[in-house]
Amino acid sequence: MLRLIGSQFKKPSGLLGKIISKVMKKGNSPDYDKIIPEMDIKQGDRLLEIGYGHGLGVNRISANYDCHITGIDFSELMFKEASKRNRKFIEHNKVELNFGNFLDYEIKPDHYDKVFCVHVIYFWDSLAEPFSKIRTGIKDGGVFCLFMAKTDYIKKMKFTKDGIFNKYSLDHVVDELKTAGFETISYSTNNKGYIIKCKK
Ligand SMILES: C[S@@+](CC[C@H](N)C(=O)[O-])C[C@H]1O[C@@H](n2cnc3c(N)ncnc32)[C@H](O)[C@@H]1O
Repeated sequence: MLRLIGSQFKKPSGLLGKIISKVMKKGNSPDYDKIIPEMDIKQGDRLLEIGYGHGLGVNRISANYDCHITGIDFSELMFKEASKRNRKFIEHNKVELNFGNFLDYEIKPDHYDKVFCVHVIYFWDSLAEPFSKIRTGIKDGGVFCLFMAKTDYIKKMKFTKDGIFNKYSLDHVVDELKTAGFETISYSTNNKGYIIKCKK
């Protein structure tokens, strides 16, 4: 049962996925409140969110900033939920939501001003490939921002114990960002996690 719950955080589906989505929307809402101002979104910016889930972050940004957001998520349930939540922004061409695996996604080179993800990197068994792809998609001087929970916070949750969650340390993530070629790496922290910000 715990493995099933853990796998639903990785890729929500079915009835349990709908429940997990509600849990994530409520629990992770403050993490979006924290990461959005960190991105310093400017008028006309092109953003990419990887693993948008319920689509709350896309919705909040679209309602408050004059920018364009592309999203990619490999859960069909989340694709449908986020598309419904952001219907009016999609109709006005402010938002484009895609259904697919970021690891197989052909990212447009030098296209985005900002790329971000919240509670997603645990599900990548290696960070080298996705970080390098993210860097390819960012314009020179553009920003990559991620939110990740602290290892202690993840370990406290019983459903994270069975190999679905990679429990990356801050140091490891920073090293991988440097290896991918990111610069000016900084982070801020609260009791739950870290926001790591870096530049191409
Ligand atoms: C733990 S949820 C986080 C959802 C939302 N960002 C939040 O913080 O509440 C992880 C999300 O990332 C998506 N995801 C995980 N790995 C992915 C991948 N390789 N490509 C696309 N989406 C992925 C899942 O489908 C899920 O919606």
